[in-house]
Amino acid sequence: MGNSSPCCITDVDTKAGTDPVVLYGSGGATVPVSGGPPEERIYKVVLNKGGGGKLGLDVDYMAERSVLPIMGITGGLSEEWNKNNPDKKMSKGDSIIEVNGTPDNVAVMLEKCKKEEILSLTICKAMNYDALVGDIENLIKAKNCGPILIRLSWHDAGVFDGKNGCPNAAMRLAGGGEHDFDANAGLPTVAISLLKAISDKYCPGFISHADLWVLAANIAIRLMGGPDVPTKFGRLDAKSASDGVQSQQGRLPDGDKGTDHLRAIFHPKGFDDKGIVALSGAHTVGKCHVDRSGFDGPWTDDPLKFDNTYFKDLLNKTYTPETTEKGNPQFRNGQTMMLISDLALIKDEAFKKHVQTYAEDEKAFFADFVQAWVKMQELGCSSLREIL
Ligand code: HEM
Repeated sequence: MGNSSPCCITDVDTKAGTDPVVLYGSGGATVPVSGGPPEERIYKVVLNKGGGGKLGLDVDYMAERSVLPIMGITGGLSEEWNKNNPDKKMSKGDSIIEVNGTPDNVAVMLEKCKKEEILSLTICKAMNYDALVGDIENLIKAKNCGPILIRLSWHDAGVFDGKNGCPNAAMRLAGGGEHDFDANAGLPTVAISLLKAISDKYCPGFISHADLWVLAANIAIRLMGGPDVPTKFGRLDAKSASDGVQSQQGRLPDGDKGTDHLRAIFHPKGFDDKGIVALSGAHTVGKCHVDRSGFDGPWTDDPLKFDNTYFKDLLNKTYTPETTEKGNPQFRNGQTMMLISDLALIKDEAFKKHVQTYAEDEKAFFADFVQAWVKMQELGCSSLREIL
């Protein structure tokens, strides 16, 4: 993939253009969205710049792509068209697949938009992004599964070791194989089956599995009261379980290890001490399942609320060591628990100062969390874009 640069088609002095008959698919244009017969989503728009009006259309130009996704309607002839043709309204996310008879070649298509007076655009409507978001929201509310969706996205992205690995949904292909080791324990099977109805409907035509996992996690964070996380799109799905990395083993942290281990795991991925502490704050939601990781219990009293309680508890509660029924060492206070890796954050002064900041200032936690989390979700990715 190449560099993506949003491009504004504005106005142009033009020579009179033609308005040829165009047929969808005449050049085998690749449409980045699907689901439902494409012909139902194709519409035609004719814009005449003869009167001197501006086009008012922002498109995303990427040389390697064969369509021009619409980034926005910014006034001019496009807005006027939308007002007069509500049934053929151009919207952000739709893609121009043909300009005056030219499909596929986005450079020529763009040039025609600039130079030709009458533009006959063939456009493919995006599948409804709002419907996808709504489906994810309903799933999270019905199943209270926000935390495991966050963990799914984290384990997908967290395999990056500074050189290779990227969020590519490889775990969905593992089938209990090489991805079902200790650190993952049960995660792929449970989370992927939760998402199945949604991925059957939307993947991979409308959204890649990898992007779906990222989006689902970010919606979960928001729904549980956490910060809005901006989501970018364009991750590619793994074609085999070992695509990207041979195995996740050794790339994700263990709960029964301390400070050195955390740094050894996170520093190569590009996270400093502050990033490690901010990211660990995700343990404010969810819980350990003894049948999955062998650890047992939630970190906080309200494991479905994304706030800074985890940091407050780390500083204010006293924890006593215990061994779970699976023989795992951990620490307990009442109903809640901490892993050795969690308590490492207050044993080490360099970590602890960030714990103190986040315990006192939830806004600071949210801001640093978003920064580190977006970085995590984009590790090893190139050319991500703002739209699906
Ligand atoms: C710092 C090192 C980390 C260690 C050692 C660690 C370890 C663990 C373990 C052992 C579990 C329990 C899994 C289970 O039994 O179901 C867990 C759950 C979880 N982890 Fe982490 N984790 C770490 C970092 C992170 C990060 C960076 C995130 C996300 C930003 C995260 C998000 C979660 C969430 C949301 C859960 C709850 C999942 C559920 O409720 O099903 N963890 N983690």
